[in-house]
Amino acid sequence: LKNKKVTVVFVLGGPGSGKGTQCANIVKNFGFTHLSAGDLLRAEIKSGSENGTMIQNMIKEGKIVPSEVTIKLLQRAILENGNDKFLIDGFPRNEENRAAFESVTGIEPEFVLFFDCPEEEMERRLLGRNEGREDDNIETIRKRFKVYMESSLPVIDYYNAKGKVRKISAARPVEEVFEAVKAAFTSLVD
Ligand code: ADP
Ligand code: C5P
Ligand code: MG
Repeated sequence: LKNKKVTVVFVLGGPGSGKGTQCANIVKNFGFTHLSAGDLLRAEIKSGSENGTMIQNMIKEGKIVPSEVTIKLLQRAILENGNDKFLIDGFPRNEENRAAFESVTGIEPEFVLFFDCPEEEMERRLLGRNEGREDDNIETIRKRFKVYMESSLPVIDYYNAKGKVRKISAARPVEEVFEAVKAAFTSLVD
């Protein structure tokens, strides 16, 4: 992967903040390829891989899967794809994710889109998502919020200190959030 030159934007924010929804819009407007770490892990479970059971148990508990596993999936997806612009959604989720990705791939994000959303709004959205996800129940949601606060927010702070975070208020209608997202992308391209 160190031989492929790619542009990467990390898309971060709490569970249910609207990362996947906005990534779909960004793909249509800006020609990025969307890679959701959570989607890749769920696909790995479905494929019947030897790690499947471990991944499934961790997702059910809202825990972060070891970086080695997630990075392998992201790396493969980037290499298999002809595009050179990627939105990496839901990754890095903790310090281990961040440091390992950087040293394994040599990739530094162009910037970080951060969807900022109050917990009660995220909870409402997750409980209404209706995609049959095993982690969209109130017990797991509480665990995911705790992991987000303790492990994921520090990663956002890390990039913030480097001036790389573009923060978007996410507790608005989808179209309004996307207007702010567009502004964040346009100012980068200059
Ligand atoms: P994430 O990928 O961050 O977990 P999703 O994009 O899957 O979040 O959104 C979670 C749920 O909230 C989905 O059911 C989605 O349709 C809904 N949703 C996303 N953005 C908004 C918004 N701005 N306002 C209301 N509901 C939203
Ligand atoms: O981003 P998403 O909500 O789809 O993630 C679902 C779950 O996948 C997380 O709660 C976590 O268990 C797992 N995950 C992970 N490492 C990541 C992204 C997701 O372990 N970087
Ligand atoms: Mg998502």
